[in-house]
Amino acid sequence: MNRGSRPRLGILLSGRGSNFEAIAKNVFKGSLDCDIGFVFSNKPDAPGLELARKFGLPYGTIPSAGMGRAEFDAQVASLLLGKKIDLVCLAGYMRILSGHFVSKFPNRLLNIHPSLLPAFPGLDAQYQALQHGVKLTGCTVHFVDEQLDSGPILLQAPVPVLDEDTLETLSQRILAEEHRIYTEAIAWVLEGNFRIEGRRVLRT
Ligand code: GAR
Repeated sequence: MNRGSRPRLGILLSGRGSNFEAIAKNVFKGSLDCDIGFVFSNKPDAPGLELARKFGLPYGTIPSAGMGRAEFDAQVASLLLGKKIDLVCLAGYMRILSGHFVSKFPNRLLNIHPSLLPAFPGLDAQYQALQHGVKLTGCTVHFVDEQLDSGPILLQAPVPVLDEDTLETLSQRILAEEHRIYTEAIAWVLEGNFRIEGRRVLRT
């Protein structure tokens, strides 16, 4: 992963960017030993891009209108490879990635999802959990494959669902755990002391 210099993270986001912000703050204060090499959004007006600008980090977008998924993803992959990105972190990036994109970053592509996968993949995972009536939900950091919210799991954190929870209160408590475990998972992958056996990510 590390080619003699500090590893470079690429962040892909579509919206608010609070996971990106948490990662960036950990990089700035030295708890993550890497640099953020590029912040990309498929949405030119994503608040997360404004955060990147505020932090003085390189950022950009590619307008996806009229472009098929394969072509768009190929452009994003070559943009990130051109920026010498070592590890790609999806942080609220609401697109399924093409096989071509995934193959460009083998074991170097992470996602965070606000449920204990494989429960509640897809959109509105916190709402799905409330609707289903589970007593425990949480969040998951996993390697990305071509399926939605799939791929070998690195870390999970449980969050109890309280009787008095609303969508907002539950989402907020899950988000606090997301911010914590995403950095932990990134640090683990950067250290490189893991191996993947089937779907299991094990410490070495
Ligand atoms: C986060 O809750 C993240 O887990 C979720 O989008 C939100 C983005 O928030 N991602 C998914 O649902 C992926 N399937 P953020 O922009 O504040 O980081």
